Amino acid sequence: MRKQIAAANWKMNLTLQEAEILMDALLATPHDLNENQEAVFGVPFPYLVNIKSKLAGRKNVFVAAQNCSDKKSGAYTGEVSAEMLKSIAVDYVILGHSERREYFNESHAMLAGKINICLENGLQPIFCCGEPLSIRETESQNSYVETQLKESLFHLSAEQLTGFVIAYEPIWAIGTGKTASNEQAQEMHAHIRNVISNQYGAAVADSISILYGGSVKANNAAAIFAQPDVDGGLVGGASLVAEDFAAIINSLK
Ligand code: PGA
Repeated sequence: MRKQIAAANWKMNLTLQEAEILMDALLATPHDLNENQEAVFGVPFPYLVNIKSKLAGRKNVFVAAQNCSDKKSGAYTGEVSAEMLKSIAVDYVILGHSERREYFNESHAMLAGKINICLENGLQPIFCCGEPLSIRETESQNSYVETQLKESLFHLSAEQLTGFVIAYEPIWAIGTGKTASNEQAQEMHAHIRNVISNQYGAAVADSISILYGGSVKANNAAAIFAQPDVDGGLVGGASLVAEDFAAIINSLK
C-alpha cells in the first residue's frame, strides 16, 4: 500500500525562533499518524538540523530540504549539495517546485540531474509538476504534465521509481486560495498514474504517492485526500499555522 503523506512547504518564511515556536505548537496539537501515513516538514536549510532533532523519537515524521544542487561538490558558492543533506540525515528533498522552475530557471534536464544526485545519496525526492493557468485554459494540462514527468523522471529504472513521491501542483492554485476541484485533482492524479503505468507497469504506478498541492487548507484537505489517486498534500500557507497543519495531517486517509 502506498504511503499517504502530509508535507509542509514552509518556503522562505519564519526566523529560527518562529520556526521553533511553530514546531513546538504543532507537536503539542493532537495529531495522529498510522503506520501508512507520514508527516514531512520542508523547512529552510538553516533549520534542518534543529527541526530534525525536535522530531527525534517520533514515528513517521521526516524533514525535507526545499532544493539541492545538481552538482556534486566544489566551487559553487551558495549551493547546498545532496551529500551535505545526507550528512545531516535529511530524508526528503522537494525538487522542481514551480517557484524554482520560474524564478531560478530550473529546466527539465537540471531537475533530472538533481533527482539523480538525490537518489545516489539516499534522499527521496518529492518531484513537483503542474501547469500554469494559460495551459489549463487551453485544456492542454495533461500533455504539459506528461512532458514534465517524461523529461525529468523517465530515465529512472522501475526500481528507482517504485515508492517515489510526486506532487501535482497546478500553478494557478498555489498561494491563490483557489484550489483545484476534487474532480480536477483526481483527474490529473489518475492521468499521472496512467502515464507512469504505461511506461513502467501498474505495480510501479500503484506504489507512487501522488500529493496534491495548491491552497490545501484545514477545511478542504479531507475532501481532496479522499480522492482515490490523491495520496496526501504538499502544503504551503496552511503549514505555517500549527492547528491547521495538524488538522491536515489528521485528514490523511
Ligand atoms: P499553498 O502552496 O498551499 O500556499 O498554495 C503550496 C506549495 O507551493 O507547495
